[in-house]
Amino acid sequence: IYDWYREMRTANPVFRDDVFNAWHVLRYEDVRAILSDPATFQSDRPAFRRPPVDVYDPGEDTMARADGARHRMLRGLVNQAFTPRVVERMEPRVRLLCDELLDAVAQDGEMEVVADVAYPLPIRIVMEMLGVPAERSAEFRRWSNAVVSGGSGVADVGADAEIDAMREFFAGVLADRRRTPGDDLISRLLAAESQGERLTERQLLNFCALMLIAGHETTTSLIANTVYCLETVPGLLDLARRDDCAPVPRVVDEVLRYASPVQSVLRFAVADVELHGRRIKAGDTVFPFIGSANRDEAEFPQPDRFDIQRPTGRGLAFGHGIHYCLGAPLARLEATIVVSEMLRRFPGKWLTRDVDADTSAPRFLFGIRRLPLTWE
Ligand code: HEM
Repeated sequence: IYDWYREMRTANPVFRDDVFNAWHVLRYEDVRAILSDPATFQSDRPAFRRPPVDVYDPGEDTMARADGARHRMLRGLVNQAFTPRVVERMEPRVRLLCDELLDAVAQDGEMEVVADVAYPLPIRIVMEMLGVPAERSAEFRRWSNAVVSGGSGVADVGADAEIDAMREFFAGVLADRRRTPGDDLISRLLAAESQGERLTERQLLNFCALMLIAGHETTTSLIANTVYCLETVPGLLDLARRDDCAPVPRVVDEVLRYASPVQSVLRFAVADVELHGRRIKAGDTVFPFIGSANRDEAEFPQPDRFDIQRPTGRGLAFGHGIHYCLGAPLARLEATIVVSEMLRRFPGKWLTRDVDADTSAPRFLFGIRRLPLTWE
């Protein structure tokens, strides 16, 4: 995929893809400009692209698909729960969960990184933030897959039953929290409601679905991609272990650039725009390719080299502008804790094998599905 991105950045940095019927945008500067301009490139689906009202659309009316004042209102209701200070206070809890998961594999000399830690940790944390019991995590996984598989934002037929089950579950949680509020995100939303913000039942349910999806698949990829880079990039494992793992946050940062979990986001043009001689028309779908932008040689010298000494703060892995990832501090914290703990517990050389990663075609999420790891 990275070779293809490179060719396209030079030869065809803005092109129309007939399969997706959308514009692909590949250069850093263009991707950043689009994300900085929600007035021209909005996240909200234009009316003619919305599914019929009787089709459930889990993204509808969430902050991820709103712009302007509605976006500010929806994001404002929960952003206090995601500030770096609040997230810092979650550290002991993340550490405890991480220890629990790693204790279970520590004696074996081998683990499957995705199933053993990269998947369960972020989902458990999101579930705790929402205030729902951990026993439901298998269902959460199925529901989240069902929502994601409706890639266009509209669930496919096979996913319908799962999505119905998810809505029913969250409707029950909402009813419960209305009766007995707790210290969780859902109660926070309901409290805002009682102070005058009017949220529909659908908005509340969709917020839960958004948290479920945004909060874990991506973090799972970040953790798995980091472990994979540690094993494959020469010298990185020893470097990361120095000074009691002090370099790990920089390693994670470089993984975000080098193997971005979210490869592309989605925007809709609301005005005609000319870009590199191409005419993007109002109503057109646009995919700004974060994965390509983060490997753009015009922004990152020798972009295909993994280098933790790069200046930080330029990468677009968490997006940019008003939709900048709400969960970025949390995702960084989780990845840093898991990876540091693995480096401490599993000494010597690491070896991965039978890695299942699909990096062939342009995809929206980039991640490793199976990552068996052994250590000396
Ligand atoms: C938005 C990436 C983890 C919640 C975004 C966006 C990106 C992103 C690229 C921008 C989407 C756009 O502009 O259309 C990631 C990556 C993660 C991660 C790479 C992990 C490595 C999380 C976590 C949470 C979260 C842990 C919450 C628990 C959100 C939310 C938004 C968002 C709510 C929408 C923000 C808005 O529209 O204002 N994320 N994310 N993310 N992310 Fe994350």
